[in-house]
Amino acid sequence: MTLHHVGYLVADLAAAAEEFFCLGFTAEGDTVADPVREVSILFIRSGGTLVELICPAGKDSPFAPLLKRFKNSPYHFCYEVKSLEETERELLGRGYLPVKPPEHAPALGGRMVAFYVHGDIGILELVEG
Ligand code: NI
Repeated sequence: MTLHHVGYLVADLAAAAEEFFCLGFTAEGDTVADPVREVSILFIRSGGTLVELICPAGKDSPFAPLLKRFKNSPYHFCYEVKSLEETERELLGRGYLPVKPPEHAPALGGRMVAFYVHGDIGILELVEG
């Protein structure tokens, strides 16, 4: 498993991006609105580090409670794997719980992603390579 990106919740995508640009990040592509998850997503990069800025589209977004809980902060690591199915088997064996079935992620070019939680590390995302 290779670290692909760090998911970072923000309340104001434009303001957060502007601040990260001052810290040396550059945009990786354009902002993508994800109508299914009701979020806007922008990937930014600094060297080898890819960060996914995630901004709830409104207070009814499923991500609004996460933002309320975590504030502006990183909240998941995403790992790139060859096979979601294969890796999921390993994770379930180590006590991870699936959050929901795998789905396409528009902000990642439609690649399949899946989320899990573990009591010791919190939220983990997988993206199929
Ligand atoms: Ni992510």
